[in-house]
Amino acid sequence: MRKKLVAGNWKMHGTLMQNSALLASITAAAPTLDCELAVCPPYPYLAQAQLALSGSLVALGAQSVSEHEFGAFTGEVSASMLAEFGCAYVLIGHSERRGIFGESDTVVAAKFEAAQKAGLCPILCLGESLSERESGLTAQVITRQLSAILDRVGVAAMASAVVAYEPVWAIGTGMTASPAQAQEVHAAIRAQVAVLDAGVANGLRILYGGSVRPQNAEDLFGQPDIDGGLIGGAALVADDFLKICLAAG
Ligand code: 13P
Repeated sequence: MRKKLVAGNWKMHGTLMQNSALLASITAAAPTLDCELAVCPPYPYLAQAQLALSGSLVALGAQSVSEHEFGAFTGEVSASMLAEFGCAYVLIGHSERRGIFGESDTVVAAKFEAAQKAGLCPILCLGESLSERESGLTAQVITRQLSAILDRVGVAAMASAVVAYEPVWAIGTGMTASPAQAQEVHAAIRAQVAVLDAGVANGLRILYGGSVRPQNAEDLFGQPDIDGGLIGGAALVADDFLKICLAAG
């Protein structure tokens, strides 16, 4: 049985004061919840979050990582630095990184590999744009994005990774994929991995992300191949985030 995971992607939001209240609410509720929990704050708040989460049931994650181990890469943060600040997870290939910052499939795969080398669990984000969906290219895009990873690190690496399906058109738009639409893509992702290794595919957690709210979480998480959520906007409001976690339990 795959244990559900709900991860909050805070994106570029938060202040020391806001984070402190949010982290306190989440850690306090965590023992009553029947899912795994993670939060991914912006880099400067990792130390704050590490401290606030220590001894709690909530894991820490980062939102991106450099594909390089160390060196003259101004502004970048390495995977070993994230590990040192207690990160268990790191988002890889979020559509905002791919779209706004031009991360190619190749770069995303290199980041995935760098994260695992440092002992982090990558949360690999995959997703099609609205025009790709409307042109019937969803399956093709997801297959291409996932193949780039499988080709670089091999299927065994997926045993220590998480996938998140995040249709770009559903992110921050209030337009959620229907449970059936999401389930179809999740099943296809699992099938693509299963062709290479059925055991790895069966154990792989595939999260859904894109306008998850307390009102739609239960229906989404009720799908057989949806193993939790990657939450943006609703992860910034303790009450909403915890309701979503409750729906995963
Ligand atoms: P929203 O939940 O705000 O749509 O964001 C989803 C997301 O991008 C999580 O990574």
